[in-house]
Amino acid sequence: MTSSRRAFLTGLLASPALLRLRPAFASEGRALALPAIEEGTVTAGGRAFDLRLLTGETEFLAGLATQTNGINGAYLGPILRARAGEALSLRVENGLEEASTLHWHGLHLPAAMDGGPHQPIAPGDSWTAEFPLKQKAGTFWFHSHRHGRTAAQVWSGLAGVIRVEDEEEGALPLPRMHGEDDFTLVLQDRRFGADGAMTYAPDMHDLMAGKVGDVMLVNGQVGAYLPVAAPLARLRILNGANGSIYRLHVAGDVPFVQIASDGGLLEAPVMLTEALVAPGERVELLVDLSAGAPLMLRAEVYGAEAPFAGSNGVRDVIEIRPDRARPAPPALPDRLAVLPPVPDATGAARTFTLGMTGEGLMGTPVIDGTPYDHDRIDFTVPLGAVETWVFENRSQMLHPMHVHDVQFRIVSRNGQPPAPREAGLKDVVLTQPGERVELRMEFTDYADPVSPYMMHCHILEHEDQGMMKQFTVV
Ligand code: C2O
Ligand code: CU
Ligand code: CU
Repeated sequence: MTSSRRAFLTGLLASPALLRLRPAFASEGRALALPAIEEGTVTAGGRAFDLRLLTGETEFLAGLATQTNGINGAYLGPILRARAGEALSLRVENGLEEASTLHWHGLHLPAAMDGGPHQPIAPGDSWTAEFPLKQKAGTFWFHSHRHGRTAAQVWSGLAGVIRVEDEEEGALPLPRMHGEDDFTLVLQDRRFGADGAMTYAPDMHDLMAGKVGDVMLVNGQVGAYLPVAAPLARLRILNGANGSIYRLHVAGDVPFVQIASDGGLLEAPVMLTEALVAPGERVELLVDLSAGAPLMLRAEVYGAEAPFAGSNGVRDVIEIRPDRARPAPPALPDRLAVLPPVPDATGAARTFTLGMTGEGLMGTPVIDGTPYDHDRIDFTVPLGAVETWVFENRSQMLHPMHVHDVQFRIVSRNGQPPAPREAGLKDVVLTQPGERVELRMEFTDYADPVSPYMMHCHILEHEDQGMMKQFTVV
């Protein structure tokens, strides 16, 4: 290369206009890779998984290596597949240079096995969670819950999916062949520097609104498509974002069917043209592809702030590409699952106010005016109680509220019964400014006066700033 040409290129690279051009995405135009299914090791009456928290490099942007964290891999983790009723043993080894945890989001388990902020794993150490899998079939997940560092660690890639199967779900005529007609999609958005770095350095706005990226990732890939050789695709969708609420829809407002919420199957399929999915929430959707035409799944992305004034725009999530037209899939059953009726309250009714510390714009988001204190148990619940929890959102922001240990039911939203899509088993409920949402939940099985469970906003920036309380079941 001549020196004048080199000088010309160096000049171009330094020019601000070109620096703003994003390099191509490594997976653009490629078929989407799904997380690997991990079956673990079958033991007498149980199933054991070996998980390693790792640092690694991921190529999101073509030709650029991004420092990431993952579980048994460089970014994100595998899908842990297990059957309801099995005794699980989950060994977590921390290969990172900082303490971390893995929390089993949505599972009913003893508080000491929860993997929350009170079960940190030091670098080089390991920790084993053991508990029976008392769930219905559904899509659950696991992620770092390190005290004060959850947002940074989840952003770096410490999250994965738990797929629970059972007889009730297995008897239904639903797609369930992983990678053929059943697809697990972990949705996240991220922000990259020109050098490919995915640095977590939230500014004031990120702390307030939740950190929202401008690049949509599906299973850690950008711009990939989903090839399907079946008339009906089942999408198990996890919103694994830090701060983004996704209003999912198919371009052209093509209808789809929701069959499951956080804790498993809905009682009946629900036809929708959009699904609002907040951080931490899962939905399972069925998309009819029998026409053989590609469909674009899109998301309108909201931060927690200014939900009605404007969104952060619409992003393409993934194009679903059927290989050809096929005969229409058979009609879905009218009834998917038998859910127990919402139990009558036998215990306390608790109201939690979602707001800010102090006045004006200088505060941080909190529950009942007080930030989380790692050394304070906020309340105790008697074992066996059926309680009513009310979230009153008196802030200007959306807060997806999550309760550990239980699958709850929504009794009412502003006095109205919940829409069918959120009438099933839930562990996260999105609350809008001004809303009053009433939940009912039962605390069965595990009493422990020492180890607490958490309840918090699942906007991870809000959680880390203290929008969280802890309670014991005694
Ligand atoms: Cu998804 Cu407290 O967690
Ligand atoms: Cu959780
Ligand atoms: Cu919040």
